[in-house]
Amino acid sequence: INREFQIPVKHIYSKDLEEILQEFLAWDKLEEIAYKDDTRYTLLRKRIKTISELKRSSITDNDVLLATGGAQGITFICIDDLTNYVKPELILLGLAPIDNSLYEYLDRTPQMLEVKKEELKILLKANNEKVTPVMIKREWKNFLDRLETLQNIENLRKKGLSVQYYDVDVTDDKKMEEVFKQIQEKTKKPISIVVHGAGIEISKSFLKKKISMARKVVEVKIKGFINLLKHLPLQELKYIIAFSSVAGRYGNQGQIDYAYANAYLSRLAWDYTQRKTSFLTINWTAWADIGMATQGSTLQLLKQAGVVPIPTKIGVKMFTKLVLNRFEGEYVVGGKLGIFEEKLNVEETIDKSVYPMLTKIDYQSDFIIGSNTLNSEFDTYLLDHQIQERPVFPGVMVLESFAEFYNRVFGKTMTSISNVSFHNALKVPERKSIDVEVKLDKSNNEVSFFSRTYPLILKGKPLIKEHFNGQFINLKRKLNWKKSPIIEPLVPLLNKREIYELFFHGEKFQVLKEIIQLEKRKIVVKTDIPSGPLTTSGSRGNDTDHFQLDPLTLESVFQAAALFDIIVNDHFSLPSKISNLEILSKKKPKYIEARFLKEDESHSYYNAVVLSEDQEIIAKFNNLAIIHAPISVKISDKLSNYFQTLQEYYLLKNNNQSKNIEILPIEQIKQMYQNDPNWISNYLTENEIESSKKYRNEKRKIEYFSGIIAAKTCYLNHLKYVDRSSLSDVEIHKDDKGKPFYYSNIDKKEIPINLSISHSHDFSVAMTSKKLVGIDLELIESRAPSFYKEIFTDAERKLISESAELGTLYWTAKEAFSKAIGEGFHINFLDVQLKFNKKQKKFSVKYNKDLSMLPKKLQNLNLKSESSKKYILSYCEI
Ligand SMILES: NC(=O)c1ccc[n+]([C@@H]2O[C@H](COP(=O)([O-])OP(=O)(O)OC[C@H]3O[C@@H](n4cnc5c(N)ncnc54)[C@H](OP(=O)(O)O)[C@@H]3O)[C@@H](O)[C@H]2O)c1
Repeated sequence: INREFQIPVKHIYSKDLEEILQEFLAWDKLEEIAYKDDTRYTLLRKRIKTISELKRSSITDNDVLLATGGAQGITFICIDDLTNYVKPELILLGLAPIDNSLYEYLDRTPQMLEVKKEELKILLKANNEKVTPVMIKREWKNFLDRLETLQNIENLRKKGLSVQYYDVDVTDDKKMEEVFKQIQEKTKKPISIVVHGAGIEISKSFLKKKISMARKVVEVKIKGFINLLKHLPLQELKYIIAFSSVAGRYGNQGQIDYAYANAYLSRLAWDYTQRKTSFLTINWTAWADIGMATQGSTLQLLKQAGVVPIPTKIGVKMFTKLVLNRFEGEYVVGGKLGIFEEKLNVEETIDKSVYPMLTKIDYQSDFIIGSNTLNSEFDTYLLDHQIQERPVFPGVMVLESFAEFYNRVFGKTMTSISNVSFHNALKVPERKSIDVEVKLDKSNNEVSFFSRTYPLILKGKPLIKEHFNGQFINLKRKLNWKKSPIIEPLVPLLNKREIYELFFHGEKFQVLKEIIQLEKRKIVVKTDIPSGPLTTSGSRGNDTDHFQLDPLTLESVFQAAALFDIIVNDHFSLPSKISNLEILSKKKPKYIEARFLKEDESHSYYNAVVLSEDQEIIAKFNNLAIIHAPISVKISDKLSNYFQTLQEYYLLKNNNQSKNIEILPIEQIKQMYQNDPNWISNYLTENEIESSKKYRNEKRKIEYFSGIIAAKTCYLNHLKYVDRSSLSDVEIHKDDKGKPFYYSNIDKKEIPINLSISHSHDFSVAMTSKKLVGIDLELIESRAPSFYKEIFTDAERKLISESAELGTLYWTAKEAFSKAIGEGFHINFLDVQLKFNKKQKKFSVKYNKDLSMLPKKLQNLNLKSESSKKYILSYCEI
């Protein structure tokens, strides 16, 4: 009915009016099949891909199989194929009578058939006044039917099967009774398998259907089946198989009667199977070469409707496999289902508190589509993710949507996703809803994220845009990550307030705490993930429980890479692509480490990991690309200056190969100190704080603090200490020439590690070594000629010429050297003659002084320099 009159039909088995009403009101677009005992029975549809090889034999050679319609059409060829695997005793019922005179036609030639046709015409003319071509056609078909029946039965017998055949109309109660009497007499064993294949079909529009005709169509299937059961005790039946049609499942034009009859059989299958009798109905679409669909224009009409008919070879194999594997219930078997397809799609409503990013899943033949509606009222995180004052759907929520979809569809956790691309940002205007879809292409496991909007100019038609995609595949090329232990510095390089002065993220997306390392093409940040809910759908308040991924953890990776990009590479970048993302555990994140790989005109590329407190890898990003966006952000001059300092910091850090050098941006110390003067007592002893009081000048005082903190950080690094409590045991003292050394407050003596400290404008630096050590950092600037004369030899001045850079280079080197030998400013700098080797970034040194006071020889001297845009750092070890 639904196909012809567009009426959705429900099958409700309840007899209780109240229940029926309830059921209708509960309309959720699922096709109901029953409402019984307070329970709704909807269809559970699963697709059978390849049916595994014949697992259990539901039929054996000892069975007796009775088939209606079994001597002809598709029922016969199905049974014919089945008997290649098992050989039960066969009893076939059909309409066509056995005509013994036809035996001679079994080995017929085409000429014999021509002659027979002529004979039939003559006979017809002899018996009728008027003979029409239709009459001839009908008579000839009868002949061929009878011949085929005979031929088919003989073929089965040739295979060694025992076959009984009875011509009987299954709707004829009396004749059926007689036939079953004969069967009982002839058959010793009970009938254990029934195949109900008898059926007729007469397609006509509902209004043109004659009721008698429609009744016959229904009766052959239904009454025929009931008549069978009258003679077959249910307890003796092992398995019932009925041939049904997609028309029964979905309705079809002109087939109200036929659809009803087939649907009836399918519901019986459901009912019997519930009551523990194995019953299978097969809803065939249309067979290509044999059977009722090949009559008239049926096949052509179905093909026009996009239905791809079933080739005989495949149809019979499906039958045998379904039957021998004892499938139960209703199965649709067909090629492409055309107009029936959309009806086959199963739509599922999703519980938002379990899957916050999904509302529905639609299972189609080639695609599976998950939908959701985004609205900042529910998806409250959108308000905290605004770019240039417009809420933008965050990349991590795309990943979360993919992960929820994966989990719902495949029933397992998504642990990796590849070829992710965020190529088209999705803006979600405030107080407006946007429909979105996650669409999986089953052929290649590609998953895409679409938006569906309805712009006025399209007059109700949707505008569908693809924004993001990825692939559910397990890449072999996984990220190989060499771990390097993270040691937290005493002072972070950039704190939360500064990070979010730069970034646009609102509170919920403020996931980073501070930068703790920025050197040698990598950035390490500490996370500080806010704990409030991101959506209003979670009833439990905290999203970590019901999100599949930890979106905010992944977000912190995007932000860490973006921080590196803005500080070091000078790009404001947004997440763009990920070759592969692996989620290894759901532990709480503590650190993000992103390693810069390269950049091109449009993107910067990183490998990155998320690490837990105990530095176990939680997630791996292989080749995360962030795209350089034309976004300018307004930040204070102070922060903007500080970024330049960080760039200098990075260059100095990035170049120097020595691990035992610590560089501290003085600005960070200043801020911490100004925020809380007591903060300093975490790192300095009372003695040291007392000493600081001699500095009247605030700047000098802070330099002093940072020098000590740099020195103490070096000390911790040197001893690989992680325990900071030991900091109060160590003090930085100075000898009478001003050279700093470590002093143990416990042993009350000098600690035998050499130390050197230097300051210049933005930085304090410190270096430790078992060797003699000296370090100096200076701003590159031109210095007075009088100063040059006092410091540099003639030869050096020649080399330096007018260059401020070379002047600074030689000057820092000299100072580093003099500090290393413990002289500092007590040296006559003209006694030292330096020559710089540009290639090795290293100095050779001549010292025309008595070296006996030095504990070590100058041959082992290592005097090197590094430079940034503004600074030169030289350090010396002997
Ligand atoms: N072929 C298809 O594409 C297709 C698609 C969907 C469903 N089906 C179903 O599959 C079954 C077989 O169809 P088919 O294509 O093989 O049709 P078919 O070639 O017309 O064969 C139908 C069979 O049913 C028998 N039959 C018809 N009315 C009967 C009656 N009143 N009493 C006893 N036997 C009767 C016929 O016996 P005689 O030959 O002795 O007359 C014939 O053997 C049918 O139930 C049909 O609804 C077929």
